[in-house]
Amino acid sequence: MMTTRRTLSAVLPLLAAALFCLGCDDKADPVGDQSDGLPDVVTYTQHVKPLLDASCIQCHATFRQGADRNGAPTGINFDTYSVARASADGGSMSIQAGTMPPAGGLSQYDRSLFAKWVEQGTQE
Ligand code: HEC
Repeated sequence: MMTTRRTLSAVLPLLAAALFCLGCDDKADPVGDQSDGLPDVVTYTQHVKPLLDASCIQCHATFRQGADRNGAPTGINFDTYSVARASADGGSMSIQAGTMPPAGGLSQYDRSLFAKWVEQGTQE
């Protein structure tokens, strides 16, 4: 019983701090700063591809045709480095504006990650 209480009182302040930080992260600079937890160097292969695979290529992929694209413009794709790079600026604008993905749900971290990738010159 005592052990449980001690553990709780040790964990609660940490939890409170974590929740507080979640709140302030929303106001974070979209391109990130030294304390944002983003990688120093953002690359397509390591960081951006997983994000695009999870959130964009259900509609924006060169291997998708017609109705399978769910209305996504044919020239805007994110399934390979070269096409993702070509649409990176537009992608970043839509992501920062919150219009893509259409259903929303991209975390602030992922938005900042994508913005930093573009800012650093869309490295592979
Ligand atoms: C469910 C399908 C779907 C997903 C997932 C999706 N898009 Fe789109 N996207 C669309 C459609 C449909 C359009 C064109 C209609 C429109 O502009 O709303 C579009 C348009 C765009 C455009 C053109 C400019 C604009 O905003 O109209 C860009 C850039 C874009 N998407 C980027 C992305 C990125 C980056 C992701 C992932 C973070 C993404 N999209 C996820 C369906 C999707």
